[in-house]
Amino acid sequence: MPAAEKSCFLVLGIETSCDDTAAAIVRRSEDGGCEILSNEVWTEHDDHAAYGGIVPEIAARSHVERIDATVRRAVTKSGITFDELDAVAATAGPGLVGGVMVGLTTAKALCLAHGLRLVPINHLEGHALSAGMTEDAAFPYLLLLISGGHTQLLWVAGPGQYRRMGTTIDDAAGESFDKTAKLLGLGQPGGPRIQEAAVGGCTDRFKFPKPLEKRAGCDFSFSGMKTAVREAAEGLIGPTGQDIADLAASFQYAAARHLAQRTANAMNMVETTETAPRLVVAGGVAANVAIKQMLQELCTEKSWRLIVPPPKYCTDNGAMIAWAGAARLAAGITLPAEQAFAMAPRARWPLAMPPDGGKIGGGRKGPKA
Ligand code: KG4
Ligand code: ZN
Repeated sequence: MPAAEKSCFLVLGIETSCDDTAAAIVRRSEDGGCEILSNEVWTEHDDHAAYGGIVPEIAARSHVERIDATVRRAVTKSGITFDELDAVAATAGPGLVGGVMVGLTTAKALCLAHGLRLVPINHLEGHALSAGMTEDAAFPYLLLLISGGHTQLLWVAGPGQYRRMGTTIDDAAGESFDKTAKLLGLGQPGGPRIQEAAVGGCTDRFKFPKPLEKRAGCDFSFSGMKTAVREAAEGLIGPTGQDIADLAASFQYAAARHLAQRTANAMNMVETTETAPRLVVAGGVAANVAIKQMLQELCTEKSWRLIVPPPKYCTDNGAMIAWAGAARLAAGITLPAEQAFAMAPRARWPLAMPPDGGKIGGGRKGPKA
């Protein structure tokens, strides 16, 4: 049945763009409600631990070894059969191309074997719509997308309707947590390790920079903060546990302050007549408690409503990919089958371009996000 004639969708979502092998089954009901029937995530942190960061070749191999079992578990736990599915949604980029290839190829094979529709999904759209799974996040909303590879402010008007307002000019927020954690010898993934280490630390012992504070707009910069942490750590002779806690707390505070300051600028730029406009935060870094607290203070001050999905839907997961697929099916904005099957994995895939064509946040191979 064509998408437009149907409004309830049962979708398998597959996510393999970084170091999580994930699959989930989600049902989108006629009234737009979401039911997550299963959500399997197999994280590869141990596979990469010895290297201090994610190694693309190891990630790709791990996805190959785990994808079948992960999908099987998601289907079994959901209690449904393949025949009941309407579609398979899979991340087609942006991300580590070897991993994306594993998930997308698996999705194509499943669709061919079971006669299902294929819905390729932009990973960033998965994050962008993720709040709708568990919260009442009506469109339009301002989205602060903070993950390991991306840091952006977007105006989200609906599935497929994004306007990028700001992006990072260097490191992503999650990347700066990961690099800082590595520098402090805290291990990976850096975000949760910094958050843990910061408990009992002093947020104002080290005065880290306020990047772009005097620059209008809402772009971000995290590389100076990372350098400042390194210089402060190098200035300590034989750092104690308390020193590390203070460095972690001061860095986390500075990162949260920067995110809040740029988000405040974006709020001022948004033209809305709503009495309580919505700020949605998504991506792995949205799991950070200190960042959530500071954004809550900002929202209270400006009379905005803060919406943050539970941590397991902030970090990479298959449910958000299935949900984005269901949202596209419901909106009737999926690709024809031949185009969907012809789609190749993409390392880079901007979700929305700013009016200037994306000069900021660009790179040798095109815009990062
Ligand atoms: O969205 P995600 O799972 O993957 C990407 O699409 O990148 O985000 C992963 C990032 C990592 O950089 C990780 O350190 C960060 O999210 N992260 C956190 C926290 N939990 C995960 N950063 C700060 N605080 C956390 N609690
Ligand atoms: Zn992600």
